[in-house]
Amino acid sequence: MNAPESVVKAQSSGPNAHGYRSYKLGQFEFTRDEYFAHLRWVGRNGKQMSHSLDIGAFLRPLMRDVAWGFFYGYVNFDEVFGTCNKYSSVDVYAGTYNGQYSRAEVDLLINLPTDEVRACFVEMLEDWVNEGYDPFAAPMETGSPYGRKRGENLAALRRQRQLAKRCVGLKDDLFMRSDANGFTVNRHFQDVPQDQPELHPEPGFENEVHAFNLFAYLSRSDVTWNPSFTSVVKYSFCCPTTEEHILPVIHGNDRVEWFFQMCDEIHWNCGDKKTGAPRARVIMKAGDCAAMPADCRHQGYSPKRSMLLVWENGSPQVVYDIEAGKSPINPVSF
Ligand code: PHB
Ligand code: FE
Repeated sequence: MNAPESVVKAQSSGPNAHGYRSYKLGQFEFTRDEYFAHLRWVGRNGKQMSHSLDIGAFLRPLMRDVAWGFFYGYVNFDEVFGTCNKYSSVDVYAGTYNGQYSRAEVDLLINLPTDEVRACFVEMLEDWVNEGYDPFAAPMETGSPYGRKRGENLAALRRQRQLAKRCVGLKDDLFMRSDANGFTVNRHFQDVPQDQPELHPEPGFENEVHAFNLFAYLSRSDVTWNPSFTSVVKYSFCCPTTEEHILPVIHGNDRVEWFFQMCDEIHWNCGDKKTGAPRARVIMKAGDCAAMPADCRHQGYSPKRSMLLVWENGSPQVVYDIEAGKSPINPVSF
C-alpha cells in the first residue's frame, strides 16, 4: 500500500553553488544550475549516463505532471526522460521509449509508488521555480526561469486545477470566469464575444438545463496547455484548453483522445509511442477534428493563443481493454 502523502519526504541535498537543492528518486539524480536541469542514472548496461534539459523545458512538464496527477499514460519531458502513469504507481524512465537508447541498453526504468514520485516532483518544482516565473503561463506572459535561486512562486504552483463536477456554472459547481474574480480576457482573445445564452428551463429543472458561452469562458483562461473539465457525463470528459507556444509534454496515449480545434491553429508532431519514430504531421485549423490513436505520442505547436477541445475517455477500464485487444487503438476504421 502507498504511504500517506504527508509522510513521504523527498530525498534532497542542501543548496548547491547556484542556490538549488539536488534530488534523488530511486536511482535517478536531479540537479539544476542557472540554465539547465541535469539528470544522472546508470543504464541497464552499467554505463553512467547523464542528460540535460533547458530548465524551462524541464519545469513546464514537471508542473503539468504534478498538476495532472501523472495524466493518462506517458508524459515525456523530451525524447529521453519521462513518466508513465500506472494509476497507483508511476514508472520513471530515461531512454526506455527512445529507440536508440533502448537498443544501446543505456536506458533505465524504475517503478515507484505514486506518492513517492509526487513528493519528489513537488519539492523539486517548488525549490527550482523562482519568483516571477509561472510554468503554466505562455513564455510572453511570464518572467524568466533562468538564473540563480531567487524567491519562489508557490501561488502559481499550487493553483487549483479547475474541474467541473457536471458543468461549469451549474449550482454548486465550478464558477464562471469574470473580470470580478480576476479572470480577464486574454490579449489574443479581445475579439471574442462575451454574451451568454438565454436559459428558460421549466420550473424544477433549473439545475438540470444549462448552457454557457464556452468561447467566452476560454478567452479568460490564465494558463496554457492545461485541459480542465468543463462538462462531465459519466466518463466523457470535455477538457477544453487554451494553447500558446509548445505543449510542454510529448504525450504518449494509453487511450484514444479526440481534438477539436475551436479557433486559430495547432501543428502536431505525432510519433510512435514506444520508439518516438516520426509518424505524422497534423496541421489543425479552426473547425478541424482529429483523433490521436492509443499507440501514438504527440506534441502540439500553437503559433498564437488558440482554443482546443480535448475530449477524453476517463474510464479506468479502457486502458486495460485496449491492452487486451478488447477496445480499438484507432477510434474509427474507414
Ligand atoms: C494532450 O496530450 O493530448 C494534450 C495535453 C494538454 C493540452 C492539449 C493536449 O493542453
Ligand atoms: Fe494527448
